[in-house]
Amino acid sequence: MMSPSLSTIGVLTSGGDAPGMNAAIRAVTRTALYHGVQVIGILNGFDGLINGEFRPLGARDVGGILPRGGTILQTRRSERFFETRYQREAIRHLNEAGIEGLIVIGGEGSMHGAHALSQQGVRVVGIPASIDNDIWGTNMSIGVDTALNTIMDAVDRLRDTASSHNRAFLIETMGRGCGYLAVMAGIICGAEMVLIPEVETKVEEVIAAVEDAYRRGKAHAIILVAEGASIKIHDLAQAIDQADVGFKTRITILGHIQRGGSPTAYDRLLASRMGFKAVETLLAGEHGVMVGLKGRLMETVPLSQVIEHQRAVNMEYYQMARILAR
Ligand code: F6P
Repeated sequence: MMSPSLSTIGVLTSGGDAPGMNAAIRAVTRTALYHGVQVIGILNGFDGLINGEFRPLGARDVGGILPRGGTILQTRRSERFFETRYQREAIRHLNEAGIEGLIVIGGEGSMHGAHALSQQGVRVVGIPASIDNDIWGTNMSIGVDTALNTIMDAVDRLRDTASSHNRAFLIETMGRGCGYLAVMAGIICGAEMVLIPEVETKVEEVIAAVEDAYRRGKAHAIILVAEGASIKIHDLAQAIDQADVGFKTRITILGHIQRGGSPTAYDRLLASRMGFKAVETLLAGEHGVMVGLKGRLMETVPLSQVIEHQRAVNMEYYQMARILAR
C-alpha cells in the first residue's frame, strides 16, 4: 500500500466524549502498528499534550475497547490551548517524544486546535467525533448514530407515559447550535413539532400545534426542543399550560445521557474506517486535513476549510419532520 515514512505517531481525544472514540483509537493504533509505526496515546486531550502526559499504546492496550463508550485516553475542553505559548509547549513535548505525526479525534473546537498545530508545522490529521453532527466536511461524525439511538429509546419511553396520561412532553436534546439531533429524532420518533436554532419558531405556533394534536384526538404531543433553540423549554411549558389547550405539559432534559453508552454498529464501523484512513493519510504524506465521509467514500478535507464552516442541518429533513407529524 505505502511505505512508512514516520516512526512514531500520537493520538488524542478532545472536547466532549462521543461513543465510538475508543473504536477510532483502536483502529489508529492497530493500523499504525501494522505499518511498523509506534503509537503514543496522549492523555486528557490538548491539556495532556501541553503537560506531556504520554503513554505508549500497543495492540493489547486497545483490546476489548470497541464496545466501550467514552474514551480510554480521557478528554478535556482545553482553554489553555487557544494560547500560542501553550501550543509551543505542546510542540516541544511532541518533539521530545519523537512524535512525527498526530491524530486528533474530536469535535469542531478540536479541529481548530488541530489546525493551529498544523499551521505551526505539525503533521496533523483530524477525525470528526461529536454527537452534535455540526462538523463541516463529513456527512457523519463519530457518536451521532449512537446518540440518536439513545434519544429514540428515551422518547419511545416518554411517549408511553405521555399517552397514558394524555400529556404534552417537551424533550430537550443536545446539539449546541445545531438542530441535527432534534430534527432526526423528530422524524424517527414521530414528534408533533421540532424546535431548532436554525428556525425561529413562535410560542404561539407551538401552542397551536399542541392544541391541534389534542383536537385531532392524539393521545399525546411530543415536542423536541434542541438545546440551542431560541425558545427556552421551561418558558414554553409554562405558556402551553397557561393556554390550557387540552394536554398538560411535562419537561425532560435528556442531557449527558446522550453522550454515553456502547457505540452502535454504525458508529463502530465509521470510527474504524476513519481511524484506518487517518493513519493511511499520514503515511501517504498528507496532513493538515480531516478525514470525512462523503457519500460512501472516506475522503480528506483541509482543516482550514473545516474550521471556516459549520455543517448545516438539512432543511429538507426539517420539512419532512413537519409533514410526517400530521
Ligand atoms: O458537543 C457535545 C455536547 O454534548 C453539546 O451537545 C453540548 O452543548 C455540550 O457538549 C455540553 O458540554 P459539557 O459536557 O462540557 O457540559
